[in-house]
Amino acid sequence: MALRPLIVGNWKMNGTRATLAEARAIDRAAARHPAVEVGLAPSFTLVMAMAEAAQDIAVGGQDCHVKPSGAFTGDVAAAQLADAGASFAIVGHSERRALHGESDALVQAKAEAALGEGLAVIVCVGETEAERDAGQAEAVVAGQLAGSLPTAEGAAARLAVAYEPVWAIGTGRVPSVDDVGAMHRAIRARLGAAYGEAGAAVRILYGGSVNAANAAELLAADEVSGALVGGASLTAESFSAIIAAAAQQQDG
Ligand code: 13P
Repeated sequence: MALRPLIVGNWKMNGTRATLAEARAIDRAAARHPAVEVGLAPSFTLVMAMAEAAQDIAVGGQDCHVKPSGAFTGDVAAAQLADAGASFAIVGHSERRALHGESDALVQAKAEAALGEGLAVIVCVGETEAERDAGQAEAVVAGQLAGSLPTAEGAAARLAVAYEPVWAIGTGRVPSVDDVGAMHRAIRARLGAAYGEAGAAVRILYGGSVNAANAAELLAADEVSGALVGGASLTAESFSAIIAAAAQQQDG
């Protein structure tokens, strides 16, 4: 991995103030591995407390609204995330795309909004199992990238892409290392087409059932520059092992 690895935990709708102890322990693990950039995205309710407690990890939101303020009950603006101490936002997670009907265009607008507020952004893409079975995985992901990557000036410098096959999320199933490498190479090519040379510096994370046991193998796949981790990011024990695997790769 030529790029500094980025390991991000997506806590999804998990965690209360009691769980901040795990975040503090993850923060200490990040301090032990400065070669790895570590982030955690908790629910909005925990962003401020986690950002205040964190020294060595970035704290981010799992989503943001496209508008800076207004009558949008239940939504959170990128500016509010930044004000709470977040430094990045995840946009276009497959759970938002599927359960909240988010389109590529909306995801792109969210990415632009986050960048506009000075946040880094992680744009998620990934095919369903039916799409992979139909041989459409790369075409689907290419379409998602074309529709949801931010186009603002300088966007690539604060962008990461997370490839998360929908069928691998929370299932314990992962694609083969070859399939991960092939998809990441295809994403790299699209990033080059979209951003020119700057596209080479965009980190491409793999996500979907990453755990302490499989992290090293997945992180070694072609063009994998980190991981977006769900379930295994909820405890310091398992997430720290993934951070350590990324650090080891960097040494090796
Ligand atoms: P799991 O690691 O629980 O499969 O979740 C992956 C994910 O959706 C991270 O955003």
